[in-house]
Amino acid sequence: MLNAEMLMYMPDLRTPRLKLRKLTMRDAQDIYRYSRDPEVARHVLWDAHRSIGDSRAFLRWMTHRYRTHEPASWGIELLDTGRIIGTIGFMWVQQDNNAAEVGYSLARDCWNQGYMTEALKAVLRYGFESMHLNRIEAQHETTNPASGAVMRKCDMRREGTLRGRLFNKGKYVDVDLYAILRKDYNRANARRF
Ligand SMILES: CC(C)(COP(=O)(O)OP(=O)(O)OC[C@H]1O[C@@H](n2cnc3c(N)ncnc32)[C@H](O)[C@@H]1OP(=O)(O)O)[C@@H](O)C(=O)NCCC(=O)NCCS
Repeated sequence: MLNAEMLMYMPDLRTPRLKLRKLTMRDAQDIYRYSRDPEVARHVLWDAHRSIGDSRAFLRWMTHRYRTHEPASWGIELLDTGRIIGTIGFMWVQQDNNAAEVGYSLARDCWNQGYMTEALKAVLRYGFESMHLNRIEAQHETTNPASGAVMRKCDMRREGTLRGRLFNKGKYVDVDLYAILRKDYNRANARRF
């Protein structure tokens, strides 16, 4: 199957504690519950949701992307409760270079329990094994070290700091760029088994 078809397909991805699945309009309450938190929104490029209408608008935008087969995010569902606790997905995919960038966010009451590491590993596996990508990037504001820790735990390597790369919440911010190549992924998996 071609990369583009895999992107369009976005199947559910299972991990020990999570199901990554496409979002639906029924997820508005769960999305609003954590996206209203300014701490969650601090280092991402969207603003904290001010009403459930903002969450519905986000879901309309995301479900439109599913329909038009543009890069999109999975909802992160906690298997135990069925609650949507975050999102993770591809910000862009370049067919010519077989490259993509991932981005993610998680409800604050779920931080530091290894959930995003678990989710990112599943998305990297999908990117390399199903989409046949060669390079997957991720970036985080230098003032958001927890995100860098997630990337390193998934065998991504820091390639440098991009100064003033983004204009976020009223100021230019530096970001650390991480990436993992297919050969790094294969090597890391060979070590594990
Ligand atoms: C960044 C984020 C995704 C991390 O998710 P998470 O599920 O808490 O991540 P994990 O539990 O898998 O790992 C977090 C790691 O960060 C570390 N960490 C947490 N706070 C830290 C800090 N202030 N400085 C350094 N490391 C920190 C934890 O110790 C842990 O590493 P360890 O397992 O080696 O101890 C989550 O905090 C989040 O969604 N934040 C808001 C949105 C956001 O910033 N998205 C990313 C944009 S690039």
